[in-house]
Amino acid sequence: MSALPTAAERAAVDGHLGLPQSAWEGGEERPEDAVLAEGGFRASQDRRQHILPTLHAVNDAIGWVSAGALNYICQRLLVPPAEAYGVAGFYALLSLEERPARVAHICDDVACRNQGGNKILSDLEGRSDVHPSPCLGQCDQAPAVFYQRAGEADCVAVVTDTDQVIKVLEGGKPEEVPATVPQAGDPALRLLKRIGRVDPTSLEDYRRAGGYRALTKAIDLGADQVLSEIKASNLRGRGGAAFPMGIKWEAVARSSVTLRYLICNADESEPGTFKDRVIMEGDPFALIESMTIAGLAIGAELGYLYIRAEYPFAQSLLENAIEQTRESGLLGDDVDGSGKSFDIEIRRGGGAYICGEETALMNSIEGHRGEPRNKPPFPTQAGLFGRPTVINNVETLINVPEIVLEGGDAFAAIGTTQSTGPKLFCLSGAVATPGVYEVEFGITLDELVDLAGGVTGSGSIGAIMLGGAAGLFVGEDYLDMPLTFEGAQDRKATLGSGVVMVFDDRTDFADLSQRIARFFRDESCGQCVPCRVGTVRQEELLARHCGGLPWEDELFEDIAQVMIDASICGLGHTASTAIRSVIDLGLLEGSRG
Ligand SMILES: Cc1cc2nc3c(=O)[nH]c(=O)nc-3n(C[C@H](O)[C@H](O)[C@H](O)COP(=O)(O)O)c2cc1C
Ligand code: SF4
Ligand code: FES
Repeated sequence: MSALPTAAERAAVDGHLGLPQSAWEGGEERPEDAVLAEGGFRASQDRRQHILPTLHAVNDAIGWVSAGALNYICQRLLVPPAEAYGVAGFYALLSLEERPARVAHICDDVACRNQGGNKILSDLEGRSDVHPSPCLGQCDQAPAVFYQRAGEADCVAVVTDTDQVIKVLEGGKPEEVPATVPQAGDPALRLLKRIGRVDPTSLEDYRRAGGYRALTKAIDLGADQVLSEIKASNLRGRGGAAFPMGIKWEAVARSSVTLRYLICNADESEPGTFKDRVIMEGDPFALIESMTIAGLAIGAELGYLYIRAEYPFAQSLLENAIEQTRESGLLGDDVDGSGKSFDIEIRRGGGAYICGEETALMNSIEGHRGEPRNKPPFPTQAGLFGRPTVINNVETLINVPEIVLEGGDAFAAIGTTQSTGPKLFCLSGAVATPGVYEVEFGITLDELVDLAGGVTGSGSIGAIMLGGAAGLFVGEDYLDMPLTFEGAQDRKATLGSGVVMVFDDRTDFADLSQRIARFFRDESCGQCVPCRVGTVRQEELLARHCGGLPWEDELFEDIAQVMIDASICGLGHTASTAIRSVIDLGLLEGSRG
């Protein structure tokens, strides 16, 4: 507690929080400070939610968070140091140890490891400014690198060789790759229609392309009618759990508690998933418009957009979009002349997959460690700051303008009865044209792979990962499976977050399974024993097998079942699914050949 901040650290904190107003938070002593204590639940809650953004401010400016900086943050926010330390230590992208001003996080996850990620990492082995990273949400352009640069904006780049990384670490400029979609220009597109065609930095351009017509119509219809259209659309969540949006919205809209929140979940950290990034980079105003319609419909005056830290480009475009819409009166006290208030705040994650879980995300915004909460209560009952909260995924939300404009019934006519509307899939791995594809629910897996140009590599499929690391691997016999929630369920598969990653039959599935096991071990928040211990034991078991020992199926089954039965959240529930599927497909034996 005795370490002091440097002038630069103090400036970074004050730059974010403003100058201290009282001696309680480290400012000049005022006469009233001797008699007034600062406190109260609400005030401390308001202050505490600034922990993560303030830690980011220091980490961004200095490159790491020293004990002196942490102490100063605690003083400013009146948070006990042990608690702030617990928060800072939770996030992989915040460093509590001094490190070089530029750091490269090189993806060695499922798509990137064999497309150059592992090679670059091994070339740069031993450097303190190079770290392996889980999926960076750029699987279509593998291998990907995320650079943290003290005093400059962070940035994600796609690399082709090791020299490129070295150049950036030595001060060079990384090349950012703008979002593109292979189907750009296809008149049948609904969700991706503007991407690559409309300037993502211009509200004017967005409006010219039909943007904000839906908000105007939503205001004319009124909240109740918008709610009816959403229910009629039968839109189910695209973040992985496929929960009907209308049920959530109605629960919050009808709540007797008037202070409510909307959250857009843009944490997108499921390995293999990059659709939300493509939307945010390619059509940011659509997300802001969608959130505004949602906020007005559920009676929330504030929405949080929680975006993963590895998406700095998307974040800057969204900041620009929010600023422009505020200036135009489309956000703020009187949204588009409706007499209703709604505004949006962006919150940046810190490099923690678990913060995509809805209640972990809420804890993260509130300034706690991003650990999931027990449910019930559900977020619609007691969510962010204990208030009724709707949380929806980016892709789920951007369907809203279409529903408002075309009507819920028309939307429900797209796809199948149980899986309505358009759906985005993230195609990567051994396909000719990786990228985000928009299709109607019901297309088969085979047709989708064909849309992405077919299988590359050896030309023969080894397995396809569906739904991400939390999903599973399937074989060629699944190619005829219709891509719908019910179609996947019938075949004991999942669509998850829309990942379709193709691996050819030369893939080393032993290596891949071990990477997935490491992912879950690393990303387990450690709060509950089944998952904290189970993910470690699972990794050890796989390592033994891949090292040549016989497969211990009974033990694996035991570990998996305990994680499924007794974990608090979905991470533990799904941590063994992909590995189970690799075993069932006989891919470990094959790869050990
Ligand atoms: C470990 C874990 C990670 C998750 N990550 C994300 C994520 O990155 N993005 C997301 O939208 N949902 C994620 N979810 C699902 C959310 O908890 C939640 O269901 C979703 O945000 C609800 O939005 P939707 O109904 O629009 O899908 C995750 C769930 C779990 C268990
Ligand atoms: S299941 Fe894993 S990630 Fe989820 S709360 Fe338990 S320890 Fe944390
Ligand atoms: S960006 Fe590397 S696996 Fe997704």
